[in-house]
Amino acid sequence: MLSEFLDTSDEWIVPRTGIKTRQIVTDERFEELAALAGQRAIDAAGLVPEDIDFIICSNVVNCYVTPSLASLVQGLLGIKGPNCPTMDINSACAGFVYGLDICDAFLQTGRANRILYICAEEVTRMVDWTQRETAVLFGDAAGAMVLGKGDNMLSCKLTSTPMPDVIYYRLPCEATPYETGTGIDTHMPMQLKGREVFRMAVSSAQRDIKDVVAKAGLQLEDIDHFLLHQANQRIIDAIKQNFDLPAERFHSNIEKRGNTSSASIPVLLDEIIREGKVKRGDLMVFDGFGAGFVTSAAVVRY
Ligand code: ACO
Repeated sequence: MLSEFLDTSDEWIVPRTGIKTRQIVTDERFEELAALAGQRAIDAAGLVPEDIDFIICSNVVNCYVTPSLASLVQGLLGIKGPNCPTMDINSACAGFVYGLDICDAFLQTGRANRILYICAEEVTRMVDWTQRETAVLFGDAAGAMVLGKGDNMLSCKLTSTPMPDVIYYRLPCEATPYETGTGIDTHMPMQLKGREVFRMAVSSAQRDIKDVVAKAGLQLEDIDHFLLHQANQRIIDAIKQNFDLPAERFHSNIEKRGNTSSASIPVLLDEIIREGKVKRGDLMVFDGFGAGFVTSAAVVRY
């Protein structure tokens, strides 16, 4: 389908990325996709929307700059408020663990009891569909969970290193009679230094995974499941090669979904739980990296 309008082919895409299919928002509204994931998480928890007392969304781009995606989702789920605050976070492809850590902080301090946490991304709206370098890499997705207070988060690490030119997407703001034009206020579809991202992704993941496992007082062999941000199968393979561990502990769905930014880890988590690969008490490592350059990792007991 892509080669009908782009100078590309499966022969180029599959060996370089591992991606065979991806899902893309067409006639549905993106916030409805996010709300659907949220409703399914509430159903799976045996709850009703009114039980939720905080909604947090991890999201990079949607058509609304304001209100937040979390606020739009609240309306779609029929949660009337006012006692259910809402907010979005944007930590790019590392967003899942950034948001998880924020949820954990609110839960541990008793500021919230049941948080609906949704990672929803429409990455396919950030790329120029005439640029084969980026258009073939991404998919749209939403993954959600309901979180309550517990002791499941064993360790967590967040990092940020300002490198704004490695991955960015820029939208113009409204003109004013006073703004004189710096040249930065122009539209720029997603720009990506693929090889640089590749190197930084592999080195940061190797560092962060070792750090969070040590911080949790564990050995790498103790970890049952590694769920890495699904950016490229070759990145996952390169990270995996650095650890002398059974290959099946490193899960992947990039072949089916493409890169779905912060939604990639929660969607993968849902899939491996449904496939019966995870049992209560299993130890998991989550690891993400993305535009910023930001990275995040955590050890969680399921
Ligand atoms: N189809 C056919 N040819 C293509 C395509 C395509 N879709 N895209 C690029 N090419 C061509 C290029 O034009 C170039 O041609 P040239 O040699 O004639 O100049 C050639 O293929 C090689 O291009 P490279 O960009 O050097 O290819 P590379 O092997 O580095 O792979 C990729 C590119 C897949 C982006 C890789 O660098 C990568 O995976 N990077 C990191 C992951 C990433 O960037 N993910 C995106 C999101 S960021 C994130 O999630 C954190």
